[in-house]
Amino acid sequence: MARALAALLLPVALIAQTNSAQTNRYNFDESKVGPYTLPDPLTLANGQPVKDAKTWTDVRRPELIKIFEDQVYGKTPATDPEIRYSDVVTDSGALKGKAIRKQVTVYFSPRNDGPQMHLLLYLPKDAKGLVPVFLGLNFNGNHTVHADPGIIAHEVWVRDPASTTKPAKMLHLPPDERTRGSDANAWQVEKILAKGYGIATIYYGDIEPDFVGGVGLGVRPGLLEPTGRPVEDWSALGAWAWGLSRAVDYLKTEKAVDSRHIALIGHSRLGKAALWAAAQDTRFALVISNESGKGGASLLKRAYGETTDHLNDAFPHWFNAHYKQYTGHPEKLPIDGNELLALIAPRPLYVASAEEDRGSDPKGEFLAAFDAGRVYKLLGKKGLPSKTMPAVDQPVMTDIGYHVRTGKHDVTAFDWDQYLAFADAQRGKRN
Ligand code: GCU
Repeated sequence: MARALAALLLPVALIAQTNSAQTNRYNFDESKVGPYTLPDPLTLANGQPVKDAKTWTDVRRPELIKIFEDQVYGKTPATDPEIRYSDVVTDSGALKGKAIRKQVTVYFSPRNDGPQMHLLLYLPKDAKGLVPVFLGLNFNGNHTVHADPGIIAHEVWVRDPASTTKPAKMLHLPPDERTRGSDANAWQVEKILAKGYGIATIYYGDIEPDFVGGVGLGVRPGLLEPTGRPVEDWSALGAWAWGLSRAVDYLKTEKAVDSRHIALIGHSRLGKAALWAAAQDTRFALVISNESGKGGASLLKRAYGETTDHLNDAFPHWFNAHYKQYTGHPEKLPIDGNELLALIAPRPLYVASAEEDRGSDPKGEFLAAFDAGRVYKLLGKKGLPSKTMPAVDQPVMTDIGYHVRTGKHDVTAFDWDQYLAFADAQRGKRN
């Protein structure tokens, strides 16, 4: 039974497993890392140093955004589809009376069968005043984040077990009921509510299904059509990031939500999407990268863990067409994770690693967060205090938080304890 369930569960976990087996191009030997040069967030394209906040905000920040658009994630189309919020289902007595559960469909076209995403929102029942909210995409469907029978189980993308092709055929199906609550550990809904926060989530496959060939089934073609640009000009990570901004649009219409305090969280590939979303959209007030790894917080130029080769090979749809030129050549990348993190400044940023998540290169994630601290400092905030990585399970928090936790690539209760403490401390500073 456990095996049958595991097979049904998490198509994404399955993909991750397959990939972690392909370690041939990964280096896990620190002595083989070799020298590398980090691009400097505080040097302008013309070689001049960035010496003040205004130059950062008016000149350097847009320069960096443009490089990430051109070379990595693609430019988010400015076209605004006709968005409708519909099919709202509210239960004010959810989770044994502890929560208000709201579910809404966000339609991205006038058609009911067009692109749409389903947002699940929990708010603490006894909230006094506006509620700050954590927002994050989920991997396997809204119904997996809690065993709550009231969560609507919308269709998810799964591999066709009968498929013999490579890549396997994918199907869009109502999920198996046995997957309800299967990712509850990574979401910690009760813990979040008990601390006075709300939690909002969307299945990322609603925005664009995550497989090669999935692009035609997500939002990319429709949004790019008016621009005449090809789909390869943008990316799946870009599309997921776009969806997160649309979730903020919705949350701003929610009267009970404190839209000045929306904290964005993303794990792994969804951490990459979260960082890019927050780099572009400053309405995200606090950002958490949970093991976003290479192509996210980590340093691609540091030759440890996953490579540009692997990213382009296994997940060509995640990045734009230009990114392909960096296969085998991370040294040529004009940007790196330190600059992606710098784009979050001066907003509070938490970067988390896990000791056994070597593919993400925890040290690369730490060093990127440390380096981004120089931009925080320029903007009057505090970065990480030391260039030496803290010991395992010893979080450090200034305006940037960091920890490397014991264990595997995952989101755990320990991680959430730190994020909640960090969010509390930062709200204390702002209120
Ligand atoms: C793969 C991929 C990583 C990614 C991870 C995930 O392991 O190589 O870059 O972060 O999947 O999203 O779980």
